Amino acid sequence: MQALSKRDLFLSHVGQTSTFPLALEVSKAEGVFIYDTQGKKYFDLNSGISVSSLGHRHPAVTSAIKDQLDKYLHTMVYGEHIQSPQIKFAQLLKDNLDESLDCVYYLNSGSEVIEAAMKLAKRATGRREIIACRHAYHGSTQGAESLRSDLEYSGAFLPLIPGVKFIEYNNEEDLKKIGSRTAAVIAEPVQAEAGVIPPQNDYLKKLRARCHEMNALLVLDEIQTGFGRTGQLFAHQKYEVIPDLMCIGKAMGGGMPIGGLVGHHELINLFAKKPDLGHITTFGGHPVVCAAAYATLQTLLASDIISGVSTKEKIIKSKLQHPIIKEVRSSGLMMAVELTKRKYLKHVVNKAMDNGVIVDYFLFNNRSFRLAPPLIYQEDELHEALDRLLEAIDYAHKKYEKK
Ligand SMILES: Cc1ncc(COP(=O)(O)O)c(C=O)c1O
Repeated sequence: MQALSKRDLFLSHVGQTSTFPLALEVSKAEGVFIYDTQGKKYFDLNSGISVSSLGHRHPAVTSAIKDQLDKYLHTMVYGEHIQSPQIKFAQLLKDNLDESLDCVYYLNSGSEVIEAAMKLAKRATGRREIIACRHAYHGSTQGAESLRSDLEYSGAFLPLIPGVKFIEYNNEEDLKKIGSRTAAVIAEPVQAEAGVIPPQNDYLKKLRARCHEMNALLVLDEIQTGFGRTGQLFAHQKYEVIPDLMCIGKAMGGGMPIGGLVGHHELINLFAKKPDLGHITTFGGHPVVCAAAYATLQTLLASDIISGVSTKEKIIKSKLQHPIIKEVRSSGLMMAVELTKRKYLKHVVNKAMDNGVIVDYFLFNNRSFRLAPPLIYQEDELHEALDRLLEAIDYAHKKYEKK
């Protein structure tokens, strides 16, 4: 009997979340490139959805991981032992934030951070209502899923958490819905899965002011926008608002799984009182992963990677001109390319892949594709990737314009 291919084994024995997975058979990844098992090289313009901001296997990250491997792995559930990688990251992070954001509670993923934020907001305010923005994605656990307005996805999992209300992002009138019962508003500084929608007319400042007025906490989900993606270390710094709580994840670990809930220590430490052990985790803040996170943050801060973001954003925007490109929306290197017609989308994405360029879809926008390249692209590499992408766009246009 013939042995099953890796693809067949993947489809049969690895849990699937889509009936049409990309199924790229990865053999290695380095810098801005991913290589498949046939030796084909792909320009990564997606970063595993805003994770690999330092590119793949950045030497500072791999070396920090190796050093920590030789010292210790897991020693005790979160928060009991003093571990230097946790302290080093926390200290460097707080040194680069407003002084009110001086403490981080470590978790393993973005969804978990959102869960913790929802719980902490209830605990801190004694209120039960959480407000989120329509067309936001904050994660797939039940609390985070409750914040998803699109019933096409969440409808199958009802009932979810009660007490969630939705407002329209960038809609000032809707801010009136934030009231005296609201524990927290959870929002992305730049909406990601809606297809990259930046704040307009000082929306975030107005949201901040309304939360202050109503004594509701402002929780900013910087899980996609964080760690330089929008051209500053964090998007709230770019748009000049300070949240009560900030959720971080994705690029934080330089390719390793980690998340963090960041806030004032008095707020975060409510998890230690009434009840104590109010939110616990076994692996959150794992020393190897924290060592990777520290190396990632240190590398971002000690280099010109973040300051180079806006130049690369401009290169991409000026180069991506084509009759079927309607607009390119962006905040730094968090970008959406909107096409004139929905029918082109999958052909562009598929043909780009054939041409050795990885781009991706959005959850809630079926006319746009995502560009979230590693921030470390050299300009010549970026030009080559964009030339190949434009070729795919042109192909889709010519082949499918009449269909
Ligand atoms: C803005 C935002 N928040 C939260 C999450 C959930 O993070 P995770 O997949 O690590 O649970 C995501 C994931 O895509 C995200 O984009």
